[in-house]
Amino acid sequence: MALTQSGSARDGWSSRTAFILAAIGSAVGLGNLVRFPAEAGANGGGAFVLFYIGCVILIGLPVLLSETLIGRHGQAAAPESYRRMAEQSGASTAWEGVASLGVLSAFLILSFYCVLGGWVLYYIGTFFFDIFNTGISGGAFAGVSVEEVEGIFPAMISNGLVTSILTAVFLGITMLFVARGVSGGIEKVAVYLMPAFFALLVGITIYGMFGGAMSQTVEYLFTFEPEKLTGPVMLAAVGQAFFSLSLGVAGMVTYGAYVGRNVNLGVTSGIIATADTSVALLAGLCIFPIVFAAGLAPNGGLGLMFQTLPHAFQEIPGGSLIGFAFFIMVGFAALTSSVALLEVPTAWVIDRFRFTRVVSVIMVAFGATILGVLSALSTGVMSGFHPLGFLPLFEGMGVLDTLDTFTGKLTMPIGALLTSIFVGWIANKRLIDSENGLGGALHLFWRFLVCWLCPIALTAILIVGIFPSLTE
Ligand code: TRP
Repeated sequence: MALTQSGSARDGWSSRTAFILAAIGSAVGLGNLVRFPAEAGANGGGAFVLFYIGCVILIGLPVLLSETLIGRHGQAAAPESYRRMAEQSGASTAWEGVASLGVLSAFLILSFYCVLGGWVLYYIGTFFFDIFNTGISGGAFAGVSVEEVEGIFPAMISNGLVTSILTAVFLGITMLFVARGVSGGIEKVAVYLMPAFFALLVGITIYGMFGGAMSQTVEYLFTFEPEKLTGPVMLAAVGQAFFSLSLGVAGMVTYGAYVGRNVNLGVTSGIIATADTSVALLAGLCIFPIVFAAGLAPNGGLGLMFQTLPHAFQEIPGGSLIGFAFFIMVGFAALTSSVALLEVPTAWVIDRFRFTRVVSVIMVAFGATILGVLSALSTGVMSGFHPLGFLPLFEGMGVLDTLDTFTGKLTMPIGALLTSIFVGWIANKRLIDSENGLGGALHLFWRFLVCWLCPIALTAILIVGIFPSLTE
């Protein structure tokens, strides 16, 4: 598949379905399974979740359409696509800077994303060995206490050597796919594994309905308490919407460049956003019943998924095997996202410096590994190092959380804000309208969203999110 190509020789997605699947593959990942429950829990549940859904529909969706549209029109790596659109609209080519900011964000996200990918590898290994220890008749971790199973996570993240090595391994796997061509391989994997993964997620959720605290979960996730909707919660929600939909980092611009003219981008954007949001909500409905039933705190952060699910697998018959299968699928979901993340800076290096794809991939991955190791160590030996701790937004955060916050709460919303201004106000209207695949009232509504709602709402949310004292 053309994912691995950049520059002029591009052969495009084999079909509309291939594009949709690849885009869903990029969107659905650890952002849905790990980051969404973590953010929902850290921001108090309902108000965050409902605001997040609103952000997906009113801000995420129009921006998703804008990004794929710029990419398809430009048919090039992201900065080049922005420049072409700007040139043909008689605007300054400095707009390409939006994509450059996106390339930087993608690189930073990649570096810590692979740390989480490494955690997943650790759990794949843990469940794999448990198949031999426990067998497959009863639950996982036979004879091991609940506390010990919960203790796997803190023991793992504080072991810097293990997490660093696994980060590098995960990046290495990602690199192989991006270097050799994602074609057959990852696309076919996605076609079979994604549905299986979805089914397993539904299965565990149903298990939670009977065994866990489902009604408490639904109340927690979907009760709107307006007083909980503070500036920082809104910023977290909009950041989560962008992170989950892979927006604001030029990733969807890069993917859009491989889409054929015959594809209706309005419709495909809707499908991608619906799939991505469903998986996030399902992950919440799957994880929180176990959290409440086990008496864990909902604000367990990025460890939430890793600490709760082993609980379920301990009780389900065949738990070690199911747990192993589950984490393999989480690993693939993460891989289809990390491949897309690595593709963004790689395509940029190829276009800018004319290096070969292999050399470019190695350079980017090497840089990401170094930064990734710093993130990996930040949950252990380096936990006292708070690089931007002097700023309130980053107070008390190690490298991993700092990079996550920097991208999720600053560069992604800013990138998306600039993209909406670009598409709404700067780019030639006729060019845009010929690409978006929308008609009638829907078209007018979309224009309203990109021209007015997105820029105004994003600016307001950024301000109240970064300076919460303004609203007090
Ligand atoms: N959306 C991905 C996830 O939820 C993570 C991600 C963020 C991403 N930005 C991206 C993936 C850009 C590809 C491209 O896991």
